[in-house]
Amino acid sequence: MEVTEEHVSTFIAIAGELIPKVRGYSGFVVDNFNQDVVRKLTAYSLGSMKGSDTTQPLDVVKGLYLYGRVGTGKTILLETVKLFTALYSTLDTFRIREASAVAREVLETGVSSWSDQQGLTKSVGYDDLGNEPLKIVRYGTQVMPMAMEICARYGTWQKNGVRTHFTSNFDLKWIEENYGKREASRLSDMCNIIELKSERDRRK
Ligand SMILES: Nc1ncnc2c1ncn2[C@@H]1O[C@H](COP(=O)(O)OP(=O)(O)OP(=O)(O)O)[C@@H](O)[C@H]1O
Ligand SMILES: [Mg+2]
Repeated sequence: MEVTEEHVSTFIAIAGELIPKVRGYSGFVVDNFNQDVVRKLTAYSLGSMKGSDTTQPLDVVKGLYLYGRVGTGKTILLETVKLFTALYSTLDTFRIREASAVAREVLETGVSSWSDQQGLTKSVGYDDLGNEPLKIVRYGTQVMPMAMEICARYGTWQKNGVRTHFTSNFDLKWIEENYGKREASRLSDMCNIIELKSERDRRK
């Protein structure tokens, strides 16, 4: 499908609706720091390999790994991709959950419902990878819940093409140092790695 200016405006309008109204409503700002990413994500959400004319489009077969400093708009953009995909694309949309909630579930029950047999059939998004407790201890055994999650989700992507998305404050080097080489390698294979930038924390 060809990506039109109307598609991009609709994407921006959806993002605007997701901004909390508490501080007065100013809409979703598109500037030099995020305009290329917004265009690419619009194309991606439509399932189109044709992004903007000049830049490299995202690979729709892969998931998204949106990383960057605090308040650069990562979570809002992933939420927008989720809604836009549901509205305009035949591709599967996804639910989003905090990585810390996944870690809590593993601590409490021993398993994550997103990496069990049923969970692995669906596309999902993890918010704030790296901000969960990296290691937890359950019945004397130490586990790294999100490291296990990454490996399980990589398996379902390889086998069945089910996509997994992430937002994170951390780049792949940090992932390698804190989860391991295996996890960083799997993430870079199964995701489009996208850095989000902004002049300042957009919350302020
Ligand atoms: N493009 C934008 N235009 C206007 N406001 C924005 C924009 N992006 C983000 N914001 C504002 O910044 C807030 C934080 O955005 P978001 O939660 O997406 O950031 P984040 O990158 O996920 O931050 P964190 O790293 O803390 O998770 C939003 O609630 C909104 O108020
Ligand atoms: Mg966030």
